[in-house]
Amino acid sequence: MTKFEINRKLFPFKSKYLDLSDGTRIHYVDEGSGPVLLLLHGNPAWSFLYRKLIPLLSNNFRCIAPDLPGFGLSTAQDGYSYLPEAHVQRMREFVRTLNLKEITIFTQDWAGPIGFGVAVTEPQRVAGFIIGNTFAWPLVKRNFRVFSVLMGRFPGPLIAWLFNGVVRFFFSRGIRKHPLSKDEWAMYLAPFKHRKSRSPTHIFPKALTHASAFLSGLEEKMTILSDKPALFVWGDRDFAFRSSERERLQKLFIKNKVVHLPDAGHFIQEDAPEEIAQAIQAWFRKK
Ligand code: BEZ
Repeated sequence: MTKFEINRKLFPFKSKYLDLSDGTRIHYVDEGSGPVLLLLHGNPAWSFLYRKLIPLLSNNFRCIAPDLPGFGLSTAQDGYSYLPEAHVQRMREFVRTLNLKEITIFTQDWAGPIGFGVAVTEPQRVAGFIIGNTFAWPLVKRNFRVFSVLMGRFPGPLIAWLFNGVVRFFFSRGIRKHPLSKDEWAMYLAPFKHRKSRSPTHIFPKALTHASAFLSGLEEKMTILSDKPALFVWGDRDFAFRSSERERLQKLFIKNKVVHLPDAGHFIQEDAPEEIAQAIQAWFRKK
């Protein structure tokens, strides 16, 4: 059964599905041809996040954008944890099953730890990274700990249950330049329209600090990726990940180029699609 109807005026791409070994059904789009861009999303988004970028890139790239289990139109099996390490495992199977090679992974928000998590076990498949506002280590700073408690313990789960509040909070705070229209809001709220489907939205913020074993394990393995070229497309007005996170990530990737997005907030894909597409095209031309 389809979870919700996609507004095809806003998201005019063919929906594809891949069934994983545990029965999870991954919804994804696969548009264009050329070098593979794996467009991963974080919380509480889905492939809809890339709707502005895909038309700008699909003339030159194969743009593959999956929905994580429980997000967008992807399903999750009963008892699925929605923890980042579980998402890594499902995305790894997705990449292996489609036999994707020479992949450039687009990371932003939790797509960072998830994309890097896939890459450290499949480095031979990965050509490089496009890095938006994200992280790759346990977040121990006080602001993240407070945020994690508020969104992941109280009142996060309550506001999620009452009025899909985690989605409303993130997409209000996380977009600076191009606020969502009513129809766009409807598409971000739709995957979680049933109360019982909303826990993925507060499990992620809880895991910001509580996924420490996964995140510290990831941090240790990041050296495997240090020679992969990385294009940073960094929103300078993010409420969450700031210049200190960018500088720390830059130290992990020796061959990096930074493009600042001065007006973009957390969801850079919403705020600065043209600037990001131009940066990617220019970066590939020079590679
Ligand atoms: C999270 O869901 O954990 C998250 C979302 C936006 C910014 C930072 C963290």
